[in-house]
Amino acid sequence: MTIQFSTKVLSEIDFKSLKAATAICGLSGDCLILGYRQSELNQLQALDDLLGGAIGQARSLGDLDGKAGACTLLRSTNSWALSKVRLKRVLLVGLGDKESLADFAKVARSAMKHISASPIESVLWHVGSFTGKHKTNQSPTAIQERIRLLAQIVGDQAYHFGVRQAQFKTKPVAKSDPLKLVTLLTNTKQAALVKASVHEGAALVEGMNLTKDLGNLPPNICTPTFLAHTAQNLSKKSSLRVQVLGEKQIEALGMGSFLAVAKGSDTPPQFIIMRHDGGRADEDPIVIVGKGITFDTGGISLKPGEAMDEMKYDMCGAASVFGTMHAVSLLNLKKNVIGVVPTCENMPSGRATRPGDIVKSMSGQTIEVLNTDAEGRLILCDALTYVERFKPKAVIDVATLTGACIIALGHVHSGLFSDDESLVKDLSKAGHQSLDTVWRLPLDAAYHEQLKSNFADMANIGGRPAGSVTAACFLSRFAEKFRWAHLDIAGTAWKSGAAKGATGRPVPLLLNFLLDQ
Ligand code: BES
Ligand code: MN
Ligand code: ZN
Repeated sequence: MTIQFSTKVLSEIDFKSLKAATAICGLSGDCLILGYRQSELNQLQALDDLLGGAIGQARSLGDLDGKAGACTLLRSTNSWALSKVRLKRVLLVGLGDKESLADFAKVARSAMKHISASPIESVLWHVGSFTGKHKTNQSPTAIQERIRLLAQIVGDQAYHFGVRQAQFKTKPVAKSDPLKLVTLLTNTKQAALVKASVHEGAALVEGMNLTKDLGNLPPNICTPTFLAHTAQNLSKKSSLRVQVLGEKQIEALGMGSFLAVAKGSDTPPQFIIMRHDGGRADEDPIVIVGKGITFDTGGISLKPGEAMDEMKYDMCGAASVFGTMHAVSLLNLKKNVIGVVPTCENMPSGRATRPGDIVKSMSGQTIEVLNTDAEGRLILCDALTYVERFKPKAVIDVATLTGACIIALGHVHSGLFSDDESLVKDLSKAGHQSLDTVWRLPLDAAYHEQLKSNFADMANIGGRPAGSVTAACFLSRFAEKFRWAHLDIAGTAWKSGAAKGATGRPVPLLLNFLLDQ
């Protein structure tokens, strides 16, 4: 069901000699995918000879204009067979004249889209032809980035909720793409790097698939209890050690703020802890915390009806913690990483929290709940206090926290909030590497003014101006004992409209961050 990735190593994968070209063409496979620049087509002469002049012919017809992402498919002919070419097809993909990571992604997306619209089941991806001509683009990190990203792109195209979760439609949905195997073709020199990177990329895809599935599941299935069971099932098949705290234990810990959100719902809250102990026993862990509101009605401060179904995605922060922990354990990362998920529903009822209620958080700080729809921060603040016990090296929380973040950054960047310059640097870099980007927003003291309450230590909202910033400022008051960053993924975790669905973000960002720490 999921696409397999593998690596094939030849001593030489340039087409400089007839011998090298013959070795490549002697490989069996549905399709060899080759990147080219129009100015460098002459370097494919040995290949063209083996292909009976197919490249030259396409060129003279004007089919090889070299534009970024332009695809030209050459099919096996009798003359290919005579020269012992076993490949059934060669897909030539124009690289254009730019070579940034975003340009590579555009080219790779176009090539894989071309493949997915065909009956091709297995492809050979010629790694060397896609690394740019500039030295920097042939560095180990550039190759690693591109291969991780290629897997991410393949995984995104292959993901179909209706195929993975077929139980929701009475008639089977259209079959998924035939593509089953992507083999990276590389030379001896780069083999180790390519193998390691594609392994990372494959784990990333597994993690993102889990994140997308959890996000897309309907909220009557994906409840806090369901998430707890998902974590327990993960632990049975992996290195993860999972602990789930129920309502009684949450109460005993004094998480009055988390419980204030949960109490309007008939379904009980859960507090999930997933540990991956891949590092030394005395090494401080990196902790990721995800908002797990399995449905956000707004509570008594009820949301308007339009698109309210999309509030099933209000657990996408939690889902990204699940996906990242899954990938981390598949990779057996040599680090200690802990995933923490407070999860409940935000519902209106006779037992729900009212606007004006004052609640006491686990930290002891009191909060006047002026709007029950600002619930994410109320469950996260207690989770942040809880994770102090791990003496974390760093804490990153991930949340679909504010509609205001969509107004500020749209659906392009996730919002990044942190006063720790090195965390900002590392997270921004991981975002660039995976094209799962962030944009930093402020946390200045001046914004804290907006959280003043006449009746409690603070209010849970700061009014309409800078809504994402005041939400982050609220959280920062519970994150003073460790290095901390907050990611607001309200605009990036899912897509609306005809292509409605979870994106799997920010798993690429988080995994790249953890891998490169
Ligand atoms: N889950 C929402 C934020 C959200 C809204 C994300 C729409 C994505 C799309 C969050 O719990 C919320 O309701 N926030 C309020 C805060 C306000 C009451 C201060 C918001 O953004 O309107
Ligand atoms: Mn809300
Ligand atoms: Zn919410």
